[in-house]
Amino acid sequence: NRSIKIAPSILSADFANFGLECEAIEAQGCDWVHVDVMDGHFVPNITFGPATCAAIRPHIKGVMDVHLMIAPVDPYIEAFAQAGADVITAHLEAGPHIHRTLQAIRGAGAKAGLALNPGTGIEDVHYLLDMVDLICVMTVNPGFGGQKFIPSQVEKVRRLRAMIGDRPVHIEIDGGVTVETAPLVAAAGADVLVAGSAVFRGGSVSNPAPYGENIRAI
Ligand code: DX5
Ligand code: ZN
Repeated sequence: NRSIKIAPSILSADFANFGLECEAIEAQGCDWVHVDVMDGHFVPNITFGPATCAAIRPHIKGVMDVHLMIAPVDPYIEAFAQAGADVITAHLEAGPHIHRTLQAIRGAGAKAGLALNPGTGIEDVHYLLDMVDLICVMTVNPGFGGQKFIPSQVEKVRRLRAMIGDRPVHIEIDGGVTVETAPLVAAAGADVLVAGSAVFRGGSVSNPAPYGENIRAI
């Protein structure tokens, strides 16, 4: 489906070769590059911070989509914007002041994303709809790649798409996206699909063709 964007998550890339990995997935036809920032506090895993984002930025021609799985968020927004993030996504669950956080992201010059854990409802999102450019529906519990898609989230996507109406807001799916699950969320109204293990499986920077085959299969 042409209107669906694929955003490979570099969580499944070779951490010693982020620059080359980003160039490889773009050359193989991805739309956005999804960058997972984890702090070992909001989620039980640690990845990297704004310095790494700044280092990979010159290796990405398109959209750098930064998913912050950190708490607190606000003290770091400026640093990720300075690092060149086009989209900065913060979690609704990361603190009591998500409204302020979203204002700060746009204030820093980035597009504002709002991520929802699988156990989070969508009623609160109603009050944030005009402050977001993207809503990220987590279809796994955040922290690790390669987990199984949680099917109950498909209904959440459908309800969010109806709530969004004609606003220009992306719905991004993050976690367990595969050839099997992608059509379900696309039909429910998602238009950006993050995929880590499903894109990077079978390939490498020296053998990137499988990345392209995997992207086209989704
Ligand atoms: C999960 C991350 C995802 C993850 C997706 O905490 O936010 O971006 O890397 O990986 P897959 O596609 O393997 O589920
Ligand atoms: Zn992510």
